[in-house]
Amino acid sequence: MPVRVFITQPIPEPGPSIVAGCAERVEHNREDRVLPVEELRAKVEGCDAVLCLLTDRVDASVLEAAKGCRIFANMAVGYNNVDVAAATRLGIMVTNTPGVLTEATADLTWTLILGIARRVVEGDQEMRNGRFPGWGPLYMLGGDVTGRTLGLIGPGRIAVAVAERAVGFRMPILYTGRRPSPALDALGARMVPLDELLSSSDFVSLHTPLNAETRHLIDARALTLMKPTAYLINTARGPVVDEAALVDALRAGRIAGAGLDVYEDEPRMAPGLAECSNALLLPHLGSATHATRAAMSRMAAENLCAALRGQRPPNLVNPEV
Ligand code: GLV
Repeated sequence: MPVRVFITQPIPEPGPSIVAGCAERVEHNREDRVLPVEELRAKVEGCDAVLCLLTDRVDASVLEAAKGCRIFANMAVGYNNVDVAAATRLGIMVTNTPGVLTEATADLTWTLILGIARRVVEGDQEMRNGRFPGWGPLYMLGGDVTGRTLGLIGPGRIAVAVAERAVGFRMPILYTGRRPSPALDALGARMVPLDELLSSSDFVSLHTPLNAETRHLIDARALTLMKPTAYLINTARGPVVDEAALVDALRAGRIAGAGLDVYEDEPRMAPGLAECSNALLLPHLGSATHATRAAMSRMAAENLCAALRGQRPPNLVNPEV
């Protein structure tokens, strides 16, 4: 039987060529749209391996339709889109693409930190709309960055890369997580309880995976603990924040602003968010550089081919399978 692979969406090289080198029959969906679950189910049936993306909802029904499949190689570091427990039960390996998007995502986190504090997009709009009245002592004042306190929630690789950049801005760094991070400690960061981080930070930046514990971690209560001069930055996953509560807090000026790259129900956003001038809103661009997406494509394809060769894929997230 020829080895069959399905690639769910258009992805950059070199992934498709690598996959073509380890499977006889590769179907690559080149349409720039996310397949609805029913279509995805039909496509994965009879496949030996699937290369999927974070926008594909790989629920238990999709995995059941793919029964006998060896691997779902997710081209993303986050894998909350895949029902990993169901995959494990069905003996299907799941992999992700950690590491290769760390620097790009940290860079984008910093784009949001500087952009929201110094009102970069609002300023650009002033120029384009002919509203710049000339320099003024009270005109478009923003928040300071250098020397202000950075609070990192979730002490993984991306948080460490964000903290490395913060050293240049001479920022005291706080972090919260399940266990101490030697990498953050080495940068002079201090581990504190969540509530202390929220009430002491000038920038609260989210770097947790999305799971039952982190869903709505930043809710109305958490937002109330933040300083009225503080900013919330989210380049992790939208549902970590209760977006309706965030809109209320931004409208009421309970926090100074938010820089967001991810949303609770992408590609939609909560009613009212678009009208908040104290929010800087990007369309999930954390890993969106040419080199990073190529590296993610390579990594996902190499995981997939390893599984097809009967090897353990390097980035297996369910080793118990
Ligand atoms: C991007 O959001 C990723 O998880 O790779």
